[in-house]
Amino acid sequence: MTAKIIMFANQKGGVGKTTTAVNMATIIAASRYKTLLIDFDPQGNSTSGVNGDKNHPGTYEWMVGSQLSSIQHTYIPDLHLISANMNLAAADVELLQKHDKEFILQKNLDKYKNFYDYIIVDCPPSLGLLTINALTASTHIIVPMQCEYYALEGISHIMQIIQRIQGGFNPNLQLLGILLTMYDRRSSLNQQIANDIRFHFQQKVFNSVIPRNVKIAEAPSHGKPIILYDVKSTGAISYMDATKELLQRVSIN
Ligand SMILES: Nc1ncnc2c1ncn2[C@@H]1O[C@H](COP(=O)(O)OP(=O)(O)OP(=O)(O)O)[C@@H](O)[C@H]1O
Ligand SMILES: [Mg+2]
Repeated sequence: MTAKIIMFANQKGGVGKTTTAVNMATIIAASRYKTLLIDFDPQGNSTSGVNGDKNHPGTYEWMVGSQLSSIQHTYIPDLHLISANMNLAAADVELLQKHDKEFILQKNLDKYKNFYDYIIVDCPPSLGLLTINALTASTHIIVPMQCEYYALEGISHIMQIIQRIQGGFNPNLQLLGILLTMYDRRSSLNQQIANDIRFHFQQKVFNSVIPRNVKIAEAPSHGKPIILYDVKSTGAISYMDATKELLQRVSIN
């Protein structure tokens, strides 16, 4: 087996990257796939989301060079984690001095690709070297977005970056889809922007939509993904649907 490496990125902050990465990684692992979640954001939110240990050697050590083993098991069977904490904030600068600085994640993952089915990378809200490393190493990218007024501008920016990477560092990178998050179907602005996005990007937009749901927002404070916090909530059901769609999209892409 060779792992599918799926990154979650959008340079805009607070659009649901981490929530989506944590919940989809958990649902994929619960479907009996060996899964590795890599927290690539110094905020360490996906580490907290699966109750990971932020003091364990993590992404910073792994990317910047010590030989320490960085993988930790989580309490979720088949879900492993490479954690992040504030140390990772220095990585963008420290990586600058490295040879092949855009390819470090790709090189590091070579050793693990045959051990996992899925590797999920939660990116920070920026297009710095960490995100470039993810773009270079990944087989697929999912762009979570919120249906807000400036969303279209942000999305066209990341689409340009993806095209540039496909034309250079990583011709194999595929846009798996745009996922609409925190959707409020009673909001006419949300509806209108969702229509615009679907018109522009057609089948590249996930059919599944993640609604704004209070259980999704509560779950991380308990260190739990939504399927372990409240499996019957609309939030859990929407993430299960979206993950099923992800697995289908991966199988045909
Ligand atoms: N579907 C949802 N319903 C309600 N709240 C949500 C939903 N998705 C995410 N949130 C909340 O919105 C906030 C931002 O989500 P999240 O941290 O996943 O975004 P992000 O894109 O990873 O942010 P950052 O850019 O800072 O990394 C969090 O407080 C999260 O709990
Ligand atoms: Mg995040």
